[in-house]
Amino acid sequence: MASKLFATKSVKAMLEQSEDSEHALKRTLGPINLTLLGIGAIIGAGLFVRTAAAAAEYAGPSVTISYLVAAFGCAFAGLCYAEFASTIPIAGSAYTYSYATLGEFIAWIIGWDLILEYAFGAATVAIAWAEYLNKLLANWDVQIPFEWCHSPFEVSSLGVHGIMNVPALIILLLLTLLLIRGTKESAMVNGLIVILKVSIVILFIVFGWSFINSQNHTPMIPEPTTFVTDLGATHHFGGLLGILGGAGVVFFAFIGFDAVSTAAQETKNPKKDMPIGILASLVVCTILYIFFSYVLTGISPYQDFRTAGKEASVAYAIHTYMQGYGWLANFITVAILAGFSSVILVMLLGQSRVFFSMSRDGLVPSVFSDVHKKFKTPYKSNIIFFIFVGLFAGFLPGSVAGDMTSIGTLFAFVLVSIGVWIMRVRQPELPRGFKTPFVPFVPIMGAIVCAAMIYGLGMENWIRLFVWLLIGFIIYFSYSRHHSKLNKTT
Ligand code: ALA
Repeated sequence: MASKLFATKSVKAMLEQSEDSEHALKRTLGPINLTLLGIGAIIGAGLFVRTAAAAAEYAGPSVTISYLVAAFGCAFAGLCYAEFASTIPIAGSAYTYSYATLGEFIAWIIGWDLILEYAFGAATVAIAWAEYLNKLLANWDVQIPFEWCHSPFEVSSLGVHGIMNVPALIILLLLTLLLIRGTKESAMVNGLIVILKVSIVILFIVFGWSFINSQNHTPMIPEPTTFVTDLGATHHFGGLLGILGGAGVVFFAFIGFDAVSTAAQETKNPKKDMPIGILASLVVCTILYIFFSYVLTGISPYQDFRTAGKEASVAYAIHTYMQGYGWLANFITVAILAGFSSVILVMLLGQSRVFFSMSRDGLVPSVFSDVHKKFKTPYKSNIIFFIFVGLFAGFLPGSVAGDMTSIGTLFAFVLVSIGVWIMRVRQPELPRGFKTPFVPFVPIMGAIVCAAMIYGLGMENWIRLFVWLLIGFIIYFSYSRHHSKLNKTT
């Protein structure tokens, strides 16, 4: 049994299977599409919502340093992703890579774990979308009632309990419909949104720079103490551990560059274009993030982000501390609404593609790989995931969904980093379009930095990850193992 658990799929067989025409996806994306897809997935709620949360709850102004730590983790893991994506240019991202290297069981764990990244990620951004929608509507003195734009776990300052986040559900539905129409069309809409999104980040940095109050940056690293969360748990605030926890939170802002690799099967020349798409989008975003977080924590004291500025924090900071720039807050809010949509789109795309691959391997039911005759998209999978993601978005607070996304993705990154190293030792002769430099240093650093961020996220999140994996094990041993196509052939 143990040998079956760790049976690996041959890379050659995988490449052949991906060409099988009945289930084939259209190859329409080039390097620029991919970089845009990456930036489209990367800049989103992480930057515009989680930066303030990380400053408020973990790191204070040192959230800028947290961004550096997270960027290092991503760069190391990103180089590993790029090697995998260029060697095995098949839909399914880390799941597919690990099937070829670490065996079916680990591949299952990663595939299951990627649900945290993509499904919880899409939910987190949809929740943040609802916050900014409310901010925009406030211009016309319209407010969605608290209970209809918050989860049952949240209570307003007036004691109103949330029931369901309706705007989050609506945006998810609209984007699911767009995805079903087809990837090329979706990628074009995405390209336009990316330009808008990058412009507002730059505008905020440029206009906000002169409003930086150096007192808000003093001390840059707050004294170590503890912070009590809404749900009553405590974790570190300030000091080095605060920076690490903050890095775990803002790591969310980098999630997405790996989603590029899930579109490998729709890429014209994946060997060359994949690494470009992954690394180029990562570099652009890192530079923007460091400046952005420096300006945001310079304009507004981080304590504000625990109270009045907790939701739609960037619009709050501009309205409160940048007199005369109300127009910028409104413009940013509109752009954020569009920008978040492109993130959700890529997350939903990634999720359906991972399950597409798992379904073709027999690990999840075949309904997830049924392709629409006309649109050539896995439409049934898209619909099922709308319901699934909708449950998280409608009924969970953004901070819980966000931290789950971070910890799940970090865990996948650790496994991918180790996987690249193992693959080099086991199959050194395999042709690789892109080679991770300085192996094993880079994979080891990728694993260590990402594991450190997992540590920083604290006990509450470790337990959630553990429970999630436990559910995954139960499904694997009761369903997937018996339906696995690889298991039937070995
Ligand atoms: N990186 C994406 C975001 O920040 C997930 O919204």
